[in-house]
Amino acid sequence: MADSRSSLVRENVLGLVPYSPGKPIEEVKREIGLDDITKMASNENVLGPSPKAVEAMRAAAESVYLYPDGSWFRLRHALASRLGVSAESIVVGNGSDEIIHFLGLTFLNAADEMIQGDPSFVRYEAAAALNLAKCHLVPLRDFTHDLVAMREAVNDRTKLVFIASPNNPTGTINTKAEVDAFLADLPDHVLPVFDEAYKEYVDAPDYPETVDYVREGRNVIVLRTFSKAYALAGLRVGYGIAPPELIGYLNQVREPFNVSSIAQEAAIASLEDEDQVKRARAMNSAGKRYLYAQFEALGLAYVPTEANFVFVDVGRDCMEVFRALMQLGVIARAGLGMPTHLRVTIGRQEDNERFIAALSEVLHGT
Ligand SMILES: Cc1ncc(COP(=O)(O)O)c(C=O)c1O
Repeated sequence: MADSRSSLVRENVLGLVPYSPGKPIEEVKREIGLDDITKMASNENVLGPSPKAVEAMRAAAESVYLYPDGSWFRLRHALASRLGVSAESIVVGNGSDEIIHFLGLTFLNAADEMIQGDPSFVRYEAAAALNLAKCHLVPLRDFTHDLVAMREAVNDRTKLVFIASPNNPTGTINTKAEVDAFLADLPDHVLPVFDEAYKEYVDAPDYPETVDYVREGRNVIVLRTFSKAYALAGLRVGYGIAPPELIGYLNQVREPFNVSSIAQEAAIASLEDEDQVKRARAMNSAGKRYLYAQFEALGLAYVPTEANFVFVDVGRDCMEVFRALMQLGVIARAGLGMPTHLRVTIGRQEDNERFIAALSEVLHGT
């Protein structure tokens, strides 16, 4: 009896809604009986991982009877030397999702406040709710984090401010000037979190190098991941960069062996393959140009993106369009905070063409 058991559960957990991921290909195959499915729902990099990473995973498979390196020594040092920070400035997570979870556990007391943009990445809210903290949603302005309004929302109880740049689901960034102004007089009890999961795709010249703030010893944490441009989403490796004292506190809440040995080896090998990111960026730029042109031809407004997905206004209930696309074998993403916007991951040319053909059929019957 669910009712009697619910009394066992912490009140804040009862109110949590489980994360609803982009629909897996196998699930859609089962549901609609189609074999040929194109998934453009989770901002994955369809080019796949570096061959060097695949080789490293194979080699690491032999040693999985051993626990992984719980301090991620080689990965941390490889990242540190690339980023020009000390190895003590880095924490590694089972995806950057896990570091978001650590941030909530480490910093949010009950009744503390967290600020985030709306819409933005949904996991921030869960980190607040799980710790009985209040989540203060600040609406985006022109689909972009409104850092002036977010700064105004800071009060004595504010602990964390999540700034996704590029933002998910809109693909927009905040400029260096905006971020500098935001940080200028931020009180010490506030920790801004720059979530840069899509950083490798950014073209904007005024995108800030937020690791500079860490090097300056400021109270900030930068989150990055191997899930997107590095195409290791299935392995779950993300990392955070912050002053060593903050990293030390995050280490206090984590489990001892949170990142598998195979994942660590693949991440190290990926860092040694510059071509991987170059290929991903080239495919993304070409796909972006194609999608923009097609959206314009279809008369659809879209948000210019700095990431590997585009947020497009389909002009009608996005859930209906999402379902109709799925019947045609294309999985996109809807229900991300705006009623008529769909988020589509940029894929290979054939994926993008299939998506546009399906969208055109759904919207115009052609
Ligand atoms: C903005 C943002 N942050 C964090 C993540 C989590 O990435 P991962 O846990 O795979 O590193 C995602 C995934 O979609 C994201 O869009």
